[in-house]
Amino acid sequence: MNRNLASLKNYLKIEFPLIMAPMFLVSNVNMVVEAMKSGIAGTIPSLNYRTGRELEKALNELNAFKESDQNKGTYGVNLIVQKTNSHLSEHLDICIEKKVPFFITSLGTPKEVIEKAKNYGAKVFSDVTNLSHAGKVYDLGVDGFIAVGSGAGGHAGPYPNQLLVPALKKQFPDKLVIAAGGVASGSGILSMVLLGAAGVSVGTLFIASNEAEVSKEYKEAIINAGMKDIVITNRISGAPLSIINTPFARKIGAEKGWLEKYFYRYFTETIFGKSKAMEKGIKMLERSIKPGNYNNLWVTGHSVEMIDKVRPVSEIISKLKEEFNVALRRTCDIKI
Ligand SMILES: Cc1cc2nc3c(=O)[nH]c(=O)nc-3n(C[C@H](O)[C@H](O)[C@H](O)COP(=O)(O)O)c2cc1C
Repeated sequence: MNRNLASLKNYLKIEFPLIMAPMFLVSNVNMVVEAMKSGIAGTIPSLNYRTGRELEKALNELNAFKESDQNKGTYGVNLIVQKTNSHLSEHLDICIEKKVPFFITSLGTPKEVIEKAKNYGAKVFSDVTNLSHAGKVYDLGVDGFIAVGSGAGGHAGPYPNQLLVPALKKQFPDKLVIAAGGVASGSGILSMVLLGAAGVSVGTLFIASNEAEVSKEYKEAIINAGMKDIVITNRISGAPLSIINTPFARKIGAEKGWLEKYFYRYFTETIFGKSKAMEKGIKMLERSIKPGNYNNLWVTGHSVEMIDKVRPVSEIISKLKEEFNVALRRTCDIKI
């Protein structure tokens, strides 16, 4: 067995080196429980809960399941560690009290999360899209990187994982690298492992699951879209966001106009301004995924190309495992 592959399994005590990626407004307890039953790691962004009480309730349910006989995996929480996240301090305290097994941090500095998580042996991975950010979180002592490559759903990175994964491995050989972006098949997982990844984090594929509580229209759009239908817009959160090219996406466009850019920059120079901009983006996304709303903002990655059906989470995972094993056997037969 590949040492990289074994290490994510050992690190997270899971059966297969796969993380069901955290997805704002999509991930839910039911999806994570199904992931745990199937021996992988499920995750939820803490911001999917508006109140501390709701987050606490979700973590109690996940901890109860983790202690049950049915559990073969684990779970983690995604924290946006930027100062613009006004819920961070409360959410972090709750997660620490509930002894969340691992964290994925996005944006900002994960320093406080690492310090508090280490006290009880929890692991911390940070989303990175380039080597410079990776260097900063490396110095703080993260356990590994989530390499968010181009083609990923959500805030995609600028570089393809065919390059980002080996580049991270070369520069930081002692850290785990988990590839995120564009994987929707077992052979895709194997390809990332061959490049040095310890495992893979998959998002878009799990939106097309029975357990994802998003509108029927969102799931249908994923089935019907191909990679040609994915566009990047800077109009929602200010950072490049990967979405399906709906009429509404065309209406809002990819870039802010020069006047809008000027005011946006001016406005976001303050933490208050940044928080307001983030809040505005969150509200826009929340409204857009509600049934009957025609201003559709469907956040997905390029892997929609590979998705042909809505399936139960358990079936998605068993299919990935089977495809992975077939691909692994084929790899052994390759002769050049
Ligand atoms: C709908 C959606 C919401 C997302 N929300 C978050 C989030 O809240 N935090 C985060 O770190 N990443 C978020 N991501 C990125 C995923 O965690 C993951 O990196 C990405 O989905 C991997 O690429 P893939 O979609 O091609 O599998 C989101 C992705 C999607 C598709």
